[in-house]
Amino acid sequence: MKLVDLQTIAENEVDFQRSYKHRINVCSSSGCILFGALKILKAFKDAVKEFGLEKECKVARTGCIGTCSVGPAVLIEPGDYLYQNVSTEKVREIVRDHIVLGLPIKEMLYKNESFFKKQKRLVLKNAGKIDPHRIQDYIAMGGYSALVKCLATMTPQGVICEVTSSGLRGRGGAGFPTGQKWSLVARAHSSPKYIVANLDEGDPGVFANRTLAEADPHAILEGMLIAAYAIGAEKGYLYIRAEYPLAIQTLQKAIAQARSMSLLGDSILETPFKFNVELRLGAGAFIAGEETAILASIEGKRAMPKPRPPYPATYGLWGKPTLIQNVETLANIPMIVLNGGLWFSKTGTTECTGTKCFSLTGNINNPGLIEVSMGTTLREVVFDIGGGVQNERNFKAVLVGGPSGGCLPEALLDQPIDYESLKSVGAIMGSGGIVVLDDGSCMVDTAKFFTEFCVEESCGKCTPCRAGLARVKEIFEAITKGSARLEDITTLEKVSAYIMDASLCGLGQTAPNPVITTLRYFKNEYLQHITEKTCQAGKCFKKEEGEQKQ
Ligand SMILES: Cc1cc2nc3c(=O)[nH]c(=O)nc-3n(C[C@H](O)[C@H](O)[C@H](O)COP(=O)(O)O)c2cc1C
Ligand code: SF4
Ligand code: FES
Repeated sequence: MKLVDLQTIAENEVDFQRSYKHRINVCSSSGCILFGALKILKAFKDAVKEFGLEKECKVARTGCIGTCSVGPAVLIEPGDYLYQNVSTEKVREIVRDHIVLGLPIKEMLYKNESFFKKQKRLVLKNAGKIDPHRIQDYIAMGGYSALVKCLATMTPQGVICEVTSSGLRGRGGAGFPTGQKWSLVARAHSSPKYIVANLDEGDPGVFANRTLAEADPHAILEGMLIAAYAIGAEKGYLYIRAEYPLAIQTLQKAIAQARSMSLLGDSILETPFKFNVELRLGAGAFIAGEETAILASIEGKRAMPKPRPPYPATYGLWGKPTLIQNVETLANIPMIVLNGGLWFSKTGTTECTGTKCFSLTGNINNPGLIEVSMGTTLREVVFDIGGGVQNERNFKAVLVGGPSGGCLPEALLDQPIDYESLKSVGAIMGSGGIVVLDDGSCMVDTAKFFTEFCVEESCGKCTPCRAGLARVKEIFEAITKGSARLEDITTLEKVSAYIMDASLCGLGQTAPNPVITTLRYFKNEYLQHITEKTCQAGKCFKKEEGEQKQ
């Protein structure tokens, strides 16, 4: 296949899709599969057949639409009618009323319109609208045309300039400027050069990267291809945790399809550019997502961080220059190339351009997968998109940034979402987790939970993290069992500061964030636990099973 052939495929596919009057997109991502989405998919196909609508109605298996908690979710086009909690019994009724009679069933439609209103879906623009298992669907949406543009009209340096001017920063947590990283790897003299796409996503309860891969795998692959062209790499690894079977299967299929269409391999689109991608499965440790640990894991060693410098950009996989990039960062690349860096930089804030995907979970009315412009406030996320706190309870805190994120109170909800402003209040962007807590939550118990997670996940290589976090955990056990003293609060503060200052990698450097922010914003709860031995949420001071029997 040649460069020009892609345009023909896109045109044919668009014509093919236009031959249908309706498209029924059945979300078949991990979340909706748990609710029985595959049976719904089959039921729609059967109903369409029964009504003799095969020529005018396409039933498609798609990725996540975003409203995961009310799955199975089904989106009918044209008009973007979103049906929630679809059951096999209701399918026939939907096809009859909506498709045959032209009467959408209002009672079954997703009602929380505010969920989508304040979102800006750029990375997720295809999610829920294309079949991730059909490369033609991606191509029809303009997919791979950014790669064609690079190969036909742009120099590698020109691509890097565009990415630099877009202001894109890494979505894996640290927010390093992407164009700058690409320049470093491109300028490195040693070869070969490698690319690693990071889909480890070890934060508990975070599923944004997995969902992206399940919904639009070719956006990640196209981002990798463009990055490879820009930095001069011929081999890439897509590192994904083995607990993500559907994402793995979707990516495997996407890689095979791209290869069969000459979009991956030795002579891509009959040009001299060559690039191959291999999937590498991780065993599920949180630390394996850290950039030096991921390299060790790909090299077949235990996933343990190394001191930096040297940085992977100059000394990465097998000592060669390596570009490590989060998959969401990569999925931004095709649209930057197509529309230009300047276009991209107009979304978000001056320092923090573009959008960010989040898994929005916890005690909230509209949980799901969301994408917002950088600079959107936490209040807009919690109350407008999220629809406020569940069960008419009051808001207590929002945890931003996963297990090493910060717990922020109501007074900080007007904080805009960007790397610097989250950091200034003790939180981090992390890889995209926002958890809302209601007034029935105990902040001491919350900080204890995340400390325990980090103790479990610490690789143990350096003492401040290994021994320091264990000490913090001991203190939390004392506080929640009633044996702590007021001085323990000072110890918590001192040990936390020491862990952050002296740890080797980002895990230790950020693990105390939940402790520090709960101490800063919810200190009264610590005091109540220690002096009055009470937990207003009723989570602590519970006797262990063995103790109760005695
Ligand atoms: C403990 C730990 C876990 C991490 N896990 C991930 C992860 O799951 N995915 C990810 O993209 N980055 C993760 N990172 C950040 C990576 O080290 C690295 O900064 C990132 O992959 C670079 O890509 P980006 O510039 O596109 O963000 C983690 C960092 C630490 C310290
Ligand atoms: S900070 Fe923790 S996770 Fe990182 S190297 Fe040290 S012990 Fe391992
Ligand atoms: S998994 Fe189906 S809407 Fe998210």
